[in-house]
Amino acid sequence: MASDRAGSSHENHATESIPQVERTPASTSSLAQYAEDWLLPGAHDRYAVSREPNRYRHWAHEEKLVGRWLRSCSPGALVLDMPCGTGRFTELVHSCGHRLISADLSWQMVHFASRQAPAGFHHVCCDLAAPGLKDASVDMVLLWRLFHHFRTDEDRRTALAQARRLARRYVILSYYNRHCLTYWARRFVRGMLRRPPKCRGAIWTSKLIALATEAGLRPVEIHHYRPGISINSAACFAVA
Ligand SMILES: C[S@@+](CC[C@H](N)C(=O)[O-])C[C@H]1O[C@@H](n2cnc3c(N)ncnc32)[C@H](O)[C@@H]1O
Repeated sequence: MASDRAGSSHENHATESIPQVERTPASTSSLAQYAEDWLLPGAHDRYAVSREPNRYRHWAHEEKLVGRWLRSCSPGALVLDMPCGTGRFTELVHSCGHRLISADLSWQMVHFASRQAPAGFHHVCCDLAAPGLKDASVDMVLLWRLFHHFRTDEDRRTALAQARRLARRYVILSYYNRHCLTYWARRFVRGMLRRPPKCRGAIWTSKLIALATEAGLRPVEIHHYRPGISINSAACFAVA
């Protein structure tokens, strides 16, 4: 993956114009439906516990992967972590020497994330479908653990278009990949039980690349956690 250590562009920093919203905005966008469970009382506390390093089995894997991609930008880069959840990447972004805007539709999540954040990091409550940030206002957008919930290409297009609009350099995202045993085994078992299919947000990698290309993003690296077995995959795109 290309590094911008030599010629990083950190102009147009958006920090002055970042809205500091206190409460969850009343959003009726199609993407807002995916926040429903996360807006329930106590969801932020439960999520924080589920993402503790000793409980979350992908913790080390994701720290290493996201850390490597974050370091594609020189220290000082501005990263938008959206959705930030309880802010599990805050420390990692800080350790890379970057600056951070943490954004989420749930103000409880944003508030939780802000509690451990270093001074100077920003926190914004907004909908990914309509974040109140200027075009090309960050170096990198981190869209982690939300994309696999999207059930339609229209929602995926909206998310990719917003990420592309905001990013000057890279968009990093995780997704569920259909090309694996886990996905088809889950579908088979659910079918036998006559239950609605699980993992409905899983997509083919070729489809993700096509949608990203349409949005003006170029694939830099596709990473499969356990190729052919695990449903978990991630992608790093460069702004084309
Ligand atoms: C599974 S958590 C992922 C959080 C974080 N990226 C992580 O990996 O820990 C999903 C988050 O997406 C947020 N979310 C869901 N829909 C959203 C939307 N339309 N705009 C912004 N945030 C949203 C939820 O509030 C929740 O915090």
